[in-house]
Amino acid sequence: MTAETMRLTIRRPDDWHLHLRDGAMMAGVLPYTARQFARAIVMPNLAPPVTTPDAADAYRQRILDALPEGMDFTPLMTCYLTDETVPGQLADGFQRGSFVAAKLYPAGATTNSAHGVTDIANIRAVLAEMEKQGMVLCVHGEVTRADVDVFDREAVFIEDVLIPTLADFPGLKVVFEHITTKDAVDFVLAAGDNVAATITPQHLMLNRNALFEGGLRPHAYCLPVVKREEHRRAVRRAATGGSPKFFLGTDSAPHARHAKESSCGCAGIFNAPFALETYATVFEEEGVLDRLEAFASVHGPAFYDLPLNEGTVTLEKAPAMVPDAVQAGEETLVPFCAGMTLGWRLA
Ligand code: NCD
Ligand code: ZN
Ligand code: ZN
Repeated sequence: MTAETMRLTIRRPDDWHLHLRDGAMMAGVLPYTARQFARAIVMPNLAPPVTTPDAADAYRQRILDALPEGMDFTPLMTCYLTDETVPGQLADGFQRGSFVAAKLYPAGATTNSAHGVTDIANIRAVLAEMEKQGMVLCVHGEVTRADVDVFDREAVFIEDVLIPTLADFPGLKVVFEHITTKDAVDFVLAAGDNVAATITPQHLMLNRNALFEGGLRPHAYCLPVVKREEHRRAVRRAATGGSPKFFLGTDSAPHARHAKESSCGCAGIFNAPFALETYATVFEEEGVLDRLEAFASVHGPAFYDLPLNEGTVTLEKAPAMVPDAVQAGEETLVPFCAGMTLGWRLA
């Protein structure tokens, strides 16, 4: 990394957790990611979900077809696990490169998770095969039981699901996605090298007060929901502390403005337009801009056993105004930090 007074040049980063959606929405949001990131782990929670190698290949092709001329971006596809996932088909999809990882959505945990896994016991043979293959399991780590408080769902998931699963499959590679709590940070740090986590901009920047600041704030709502300040601080220390177990995953999750500003608003924050700028702001606030490159561009590929990117991106210390809204196809989207001015912009 070379840091001059006002410029920061880092190896080109990747986004290890991204929702691109499909159709016109996908075509509209894709350039925001591709201008910053060389690769992204593309989440499979479409309707219907991406559950087969052929569906992943077709989705990858739709993404590549929608990529504007001259942009260079590689989608890394994932398989949506269900109670019916066949271990052999998953392994074939991994070996032929259709899937880079598989995603565990506990049924009912989040957007388009209705087809997700109803009980981890139903995918034991799948997990055994993934452990054997060295295939990464990406996890939305929240229990869905109605008797568990929504702010405790991640912590309970660690005890009820992650600890027993890793006891049974100690070599399984797990990415605990979009972590939000000190509990998750402590768990990942204490686990073996086969366990890592992604961290989003919103969980670095917001605590749960943001949901209610002067009124109900649907654009601060995502899952797992933002937590208390002590948890935000722990997640910040994890992201900026230099451990290779933590890396960049935006969880950029576009939903049309009308679907967010609703009596039952969708979960998901569309942070792709200024993702790198928001992370840079956080690393600067913590006084460790020199660690941004490892978090954004090195730890992720190392965990996934993929090569580092060759190119670079340059951020400059200059005001970046985040617009109130952007268009994607016919839809209006409200980006994360809408209306704010960030201290960094992509050169
Ligand atoms: C994501 C989405 O909208 O697809 N929403 C979210 O709040 N994070 C799903 C997810 O990552 O859980
Ligand atoms: Zn999730
Ligand atoms: Zn997500």
